[in-house]
Amino acid sequence: MANEHTEFATRADAFEASEDVPANSSPANTFGNVVQARYLGRRSLLKGMTAVAAITTVATPMSMLISRAAHAAARPFTFDEIEHGIDETHHVAPGYSADVLIRWGDPVLAGAVKFDPAGQSAAAQVSQFGYNNDFVGYAALPFGSQNPERALLCVNHEYTNEEVMFPGIARQDMIGFRDMTRALVDIEIAAHGGSIVQVEKVDDKWRVSEDRTLNRRITANTPMRLSGPAAGHARMKTRADRTGTSVRGTFNNCAGGMTPWGTYLMAEENFNGYFWGKLSQNHPEARNYKRYGLPGKWYAWGKYYDRFDVAKEPNEANRFGWVVEVDPYDPNSTPVKRTAMGRFKHEGAETIINKDGRLVVYQGDDQRFDYLYKFVTAGRYDPNNRAANRDLLDSGTLFVARFDADGSLTWLPLVFGAGPLTSANGFGSQADVLIETRRAADLLEATPMDRPEDVNPNPLTDKVYVMLTNNSKRKVGDENAANPRGPNTFGHIVELSPPDGDHGALTFGWDILVLAGDPEKPGAGAKWGPETSRNGWFGSPDNCAIDGQGRLWVSTDQGSKWPKTGTADGLWAMETEGAARGSGRMFFRVPVGAEMCGPQFAPDDKTLFVAVQHVAVDGAKAWPPFGRDSSYVDPATRWPDFDPNMPPRPSVVAITKDDGGEIGS
Ligand code: FEO
Ligand code: CA
Ligand code: CA
Ligand code: CA
Repeated sequence: MANEHTEFATRADAFEASEDVPANSSPANTFGNVVQARYLGRRSLLKGMTAVAAITTVATPMSMLISRAAHAAARPFTFDEIEHGIDETHHVAPGYSADVLIRWGDPVLAGAVKFDPAGQSAAAQVSQFGYNNDFVGYAALPFGSQNPERALLCVNHEYTNEEVMFPGIARQDMIGFRDMTRALVDIEIAAHGGSIVQVEKVDDKWRVSEDRTLNRRITANTPMRLSGPAAGHARMKTRADRTGTSVRGTFNNCAGGMTPWGTYLMAEENFNGYFWGKLSQNHPEARNYKRYGLPGKWYAWGKYYDRFDVAKEPNEANRFGWVVEVDPYDPNSTPVKRTAMGRFKHEGAETIINKDGRLVVYQGDDQRFDYLYKFVTAGRYDPNNRAANRDLLDSGTLFVARFDADGSLTWLPLVFGAGPLTSANGFGSQADVLIETRRAADLLEATPMDRPEDVNPNPLTDKVYVMLTNNSKRKVGDENAANPRGPNTFGHIVELSPPDGDHGALTFGWDILVLAGDPEKPGAGAKWGPETSRNGWFGSPDNCAIDGQGRLWVSTDQGSKWPKTGTADGLWAMETEGAARGSGRMFFRVPVGAEMCGPQFAPDDKTLFVAVQHVAVDGAKAWPPFGRDSSYVDPATRWPDFDPNMPPRPSVVAITKDDGGEIGS
């Protein structure tokens, strides 16, 4: 089979490049020469003027400035940072321990089959921890507690790397999936999705609990329900599901979120890569599928299962690209795809309870020139009645962001019948608007961003942090106020300020926190805080977390481009307030070929869980001591076991401070 991705060194590069789908090729909102003034100017203006003068200049509401100043100051970071670098293992700041908690293949379900990577089967994999752990959520046990030492960890398994999973199997998308048997495809299907696993801290060390009664594996084959405005629509119906309300599985779950009522949100990201086949150009879904890069043809699933072939089951792909809500406290519950939250390549879905009780979910669409979204529920969260919150995510308004050069952000509602979202443009209902969220957002002239990844609200300051990972395709002249570099090799972080902490507001303020890259290389155009040390800067911010003091932590995913910074991916503490604002400090580093995912603090800040993904894969060739692509028999590292009979294994790591204190200070 012809393959379009042979030029890409890694699966992640193929992911990124598939993003050159005819997505948003003519970016709206290009502000040309106001860009420079905007991104260089506003912070220096604010620094140099009285608050009143600054308000007059940039029209920032007084309430925003007051809320910024009013909250209690977080403690400064006091750990000794580690150095940039790359080698076969992980590194953490001195005085901390980073212990592997659970690895690909470790038992999840009671009676799980013992891991035998050379003789893996789907039946074994479905009882074991899946591949490529990404999002990590913490659901304290018992439900409703803030227990910092016992929880259900909710972990996404984003994708699979067959070349390091299976003996004798090379990268298959490069050779027409020649060697992909049904048995191997079934293992991949079972290695995707998520794991819910009970963990506990005993004698200061974390372990997987003996009690496995609540443990669960969710896979690309788990029965799920579709709900919300697109459920039951004709475009959601298939031969296997005449009602358009039930679907099997979830995949490419990247980041996610947890709701205040203790459910786990799994964000479906690069779903297009799992479909193959051909759709004729005049097929009614052709325009829709083109906008999402469908079919991507990165996996062989369509070889054995008709539903992954768009020619045979053209509507199946409309049933992916959503956010899935799972109740981790009930292992028999049916996961639900909440269509009201839109269909795109969701990086994550981080939540905050607005002061009026509505839930607000921030979501990035991770593709070059795609958009930032928020979903605001119609109903209010009821802390005293969990059942009343069960379907809160089915009703509400999805908004997409337009960033203006004056430092304001306007949230544009994606509502059928409003503005251009009418039959004249091919939308017959809210279901159509949601199924084609991207095209609806194009018509609203949202601001094309540099690959929006994780978006985290800070519950202590009410600011919101948007990770924009990079955009090699943004050209000089395509810059806009919020994406000021073309090309954007290293990414940046944007800070949003809801007025008076109102996340439901239609207009926010915004500012650039950092422009990533090497501050000592003028050509990089980087902008960091004054206390950024030699190792405090990074490239390609991806996931982030807020600790209990309201401090920001940022993890990176450079893919095979890591030589541009000279360091493996890692986790950095980021100052967001005061004189040191925008300064970074390196805390953790992953082994060669890996990506840093899932930063998640326990409720007492004494444990930080991180997910080490695709170990030995990305950019192994560029690492001089190895200098070639990894394979199962010949990987760049055998982290974390360093056992000649074990391949590298994506793993979740629990980081604790040796003196038992809080992480970072
Ligand atoms: Fe799966 Fe956008 O990273
Ligand atoms: Ca990511
Ligand atoms: Ca996050
Ligand atoms: Ca990424």
